[in-house]
Amino acid sequence: MTEQRPVTQAQAKPVTQPALPDAQTVTQVKHWTDRLFSFRCTRPASLRFRSGEFVMIGLMGDPDPKTGKQKPLLRAYSIASPSWDDELEFYSIKVQDGPLTSRLQHIQPGDEIILRPKPVGTLVHDALLPGKRLWFFATGTGFAPFASLLRDPQTYEDYDEVIITHTCREVGELTYGADLIDSIRTDEMLIELIGAENLAKLRYYPTTTREESAKMGRITDLMRSGEVYRDLGVEPITPENDRAMVCGNLAFNLDIKALLESYGLEEGANSAPRHYVVEKAFLD
Ligand code: A2P
Repeated sequence: MTEQRPVTQAQAKPVTQPALPDAQTVTQVKHWTDRLFSFRCTRPASLRFRSGEFVMIGLMGDPDPKTGKQKPLLRAYSIASPSWDDELEFYSIKVQDGPLTSRLQHIQPGDEIILRPKPVGTLVHDALLPGKRLWFFATGTGFAPFASLLRDPQTYEDYDEVIITHTCREVGELTYGADLIDSIRTDEMLIELIGAENLAKLRYYPTTTREESAKMGRITDLMRSGEVYRDLGVEPITPENDRAMVCGNLAFNLDIKALLESYGLEEGANSAPRHYVVEKAFLD
């Protein structure tokens, strides 16, 4: 017979009712510039995703003036953490009059956000045919899905070389990406997970357009002039060797798409893998 013991006050788990539907708790917030921040939150136990995918996240909207009812205010955000991470990470712009980010930028550890656990997206390995070299082309917060993919061992196992380019207006906007690349190269856990040999395949090519830095110019112009290939000591892009994932603002995505097509690359999808894939970075 099992002994029945009364549950004392100290043993009883406090029943905390989440205030939001699909609530996750914020665990860490970092402000990178007055326009950029990143945060981490708890991950639902049931959430499975492929590195590079996005989910809908947000906060409860203001009450409707007529009915008083509140609706969730959600936007698509790339998951910046890799699929093996216990927590989720997001990288966001701050828009002072943006419906969501004007409020989201003020979140603190312990606060709750809404997260719809239905990951989707095209920036996944499954949407590309096998190749020798993988290019990640990002502008601004478009770095986020690559922060996930760069911490995924498969990225290095599938290719001989992995090149990430990141174009921002100012030097400070490169910091989130630069810190991440640095952590991949120096963090013992990441080195062990990805493998030192695999990490030797990684090349990082940051550029700025409106503030002086070591490399200036839009990546598209640097590709057209051939400068990026000369700097990295690699052959120009071909459909035989190269695969690409693109994430940035709309104008950038369209320009680089045209450029990649001019090299003979074709756009892929989950259902029909090809040479390159594109996704729009979140803008509020
Ligand atoms: P630029 O300063 O020349 O506009 P944003 O902050 O506006 O999203 O831009 C992020 C970065 O993307 C900036 O460095 C910007 O350069 C660059 N960019 C914007 N549009 C394009 C484009 N069509 N092609 C290449 N780079 C672009």
